[in-house]
Amino acid sequence: MLHLVTAFRFDGRVQSGRTVPCRLTCEDEFGEEVEVVAKLSAGCDRGVGALAMEAIAGILAADLDLPVPEPFLVSLEHDFVAGIPDATVADIANRSSSIAFGSKHLPPGYTSWPVGKAIPKDVIQVAAEIFAFDALIVNDDRRPNNPNCLFSGNSLAIYDHEMAFFMNGIIGWHPPWQIGALESYRHPGRHLFSDQLRGRPLNLDRLKGAWLAITNNRLEVYRTALPPEWHDARISCDQALNHIGQVRDNIDLALGEIRRVLS
Ligand SMILES: Nc1ncnc2c1ncn2[C@@H]1O[C@H](COP(=O)(O)OP(=O)(O)O)[C@@H](O)[C@H]1O
Ligand SMILES: [Mg+2]
Repeated sequence: MLHLVTAFRFDGRVQSGRTVPCRLTCEDEFGEEVEVVAKLSAGCDRGVGALAMEAIAGILAADLDLPVPEPFLVSLEHDFVAGIPDATVADIANRSSSIAFGSKHLPPGYTSWPVGKAIPKDVIQVAAEIFAFDALIVNDDRRPNNPNCLFSGNSLAIYDHEMAFFMNGIIGWHPPWQIGALESYRHPGRHLFSDQLRGRPLNLDRLKGAWLAITNNRLEVYRTALPPEWHDARISCDQALNHIGQVRDNIDLALGEIRRVLS
């Protein structure tokens, strides 16, 4: 569920992205090639914590059957880093953990969600589930001007979860299962999909069932999938995993709060 691959070819930076993500071709344990968009710890404000949040959110999204590209751990070996031809990326790589986060490069045909695009009827249901996912994992980073969502004509793909689970020390933050916690989602433009979902009938039963299936044992599997190289992020990881379990234990209240702010 979080396979380790080894980078062997640098294919350039992606055009957008604050954290200087880049495209890498990697090899898995069977010698198969995998192309990923990789994030390096020194490119991210939260360092290895950002990579760990990406990984946890990516595994969770996959468990919930949400459209997320497969997440990978990407080993950056010394010789590979020494050969990176882009000076900016080489500098970041030299200051980064030897394990990066990778998101499997989506096939051609996906383009960024255009500003103001009406949600097609066929993807309304998944858009509602993505909204709920973001509200529940405290991900503020999917907005009309920064969609972090690609669209292929009939499928969505979500990525960029490094800011998720950022709740400690945030004044006024309340867990989503408390009434009023998600009130700010009533503000226009607060989430990529919130304005268009408001007032529609929402069916979150499938998402509820999937979240209820994430047992504490399963959360332990998430924990053990994270590499020792990201040890400095262990407190944030524990908090994120606890949070996922608490959402599960309070799922009816949390989904009720989501329905309330979209009513
Ligand atoms: N799995 C992927 N497949 C294709 N393109 C991707 C993928 N992940 C990210 N991208 C592209 O890379 C850009 C930057 O990635 P993102 O994770 O949003 O980084 P940042 O945190 O720097 O914004 C995205 O806007 C998107 O265009
Ligand atoms: Mg982004």
